Amino acid sequence: MEKTADSSGLTFRQDYFAVDTAWSAFVALLQDTFGIDIDPLQRLGGPDPSCMPFGWFDADGTLAANLAAFSMPTMINGRLVRAAAFQSGAVRPPWRGRGLYRDVTLKALEWCEAKGFEAIVLYTDKPALYEPYGFRSLPLHSFTGPAPVPAPRTAPARRLDPWEAADLRLLQDALRARTPVSDSLAVCQSAAMFLINTQFDPDVQLSWLDDHNAVVAWKADGAERFILLDVVAAAIPSLSAILGGLDLQPAVAEVLFRPDKLGWTGEPKPLDGATCFMIRSSTPIALDMPAMLSPMADF
Ligand SMILES: CC(C)(COP(=O)(O)OP(=O)(O)OC[C@H]1O[C@@H](n2cnc3c(N)ncnc32)[C@H](O)[C@@H]1OP(=O)(O)O)[C@@H](O)C(=O)NCCC(=O)NCCS
Repeated sequence: MEKTADSSGLTFRQDYFAVDTAWSAFVALLQDTFGIDIDPLQRLGGPDPSCMPFGWFDADGTLAANLAAFSMPTMINGRLVRAAAFQSGAVRPPWRGRGLYRDVTLKALEWCEAKGFEAIVLYTDKPALYEPYGFRSLPLHSFTGPAPVPAPRTAPARRLDPWEAADLRLLQDALRARTPVSDSLAVCQSAAMFLINTQFDPDVQLSWLDDHNAVVAWKADGAERFILLDVVAAAIPSLSAILGGLDLQPAVAEVLFRPDKLGWTGEPKPLDGATCFMIRSSTPIALDMPAMLSPMADF
């Protein structure tokens, strides 16, 4: 028998990001549930235009339950997969256990079905929540090894600040024109997520390499360890060129995506932590090679 949700006192709405009060209710739900503030996204170009939120609101306009889906074309195993992503799944404590999350999940799945997405991906620390719907975890790997010798540079790198209007425009243009950073597993664009992710880790630096028309998202663990999170460019420069451009000469490099375009290889290391990356697709998809999605694509 199909289980129904207890939605007494609540009103269902979808596609509400353009309504100020509903956006604020959404921001508050994510703040209260996950401790993150996504409001700055409005000043960084706004949510992904394809994003479709599904939610139950109470009479005061509080968002009790939410799940959003958006289009996230993704390169997987050398093939462009027309994928959707689920994000911002949460139910406020007083409304839990009434089937509201199941309800918004089914609505989001229906939306994806109607749009003809080939696959749906999500991150979660509760895989059991999604396994009944056919989602399966994909193991992820980062890559570590001796850093290459930096290539000579012709122009110094410049630090980018998304809060500077000219830098934001440059970032947005680069995101529009980007090629996936890896052929194994990488987003094709996902500009909104890249821009909001610049706000979550204060250690991440964005640098512009003029020689390569490339944005590099990176951080350093002391002088010895260089961590590369993402490269946004129409052609991906080598790791040697990136280090040369940044004027860095670390001993060790760690790359948080498969480095198949970097002219460098590292040892794959299983990503630990409680978060699973899950995928649901009509034809099962497994990764041909160890890989991970850049943290700048986190959603
Ligand atoms: C996880 C969460 C969304 C569940 O919301 P909810 O409204 O209580 O869920 P529902 O009542 O709709 O339950 C739906 C199903 O999920 C199951 N479920 C609920 N919480 C679960 C959990 N923590 N782990 C695994 N399954 C869970 C229920 O048993 C139910 O199963 P059924 O369909 O077989 O009956 C809610 O507890 C929450 O917001 N937690 C904090 C944020 C979070 O973890 N978000 C999801 C991570 S991506």
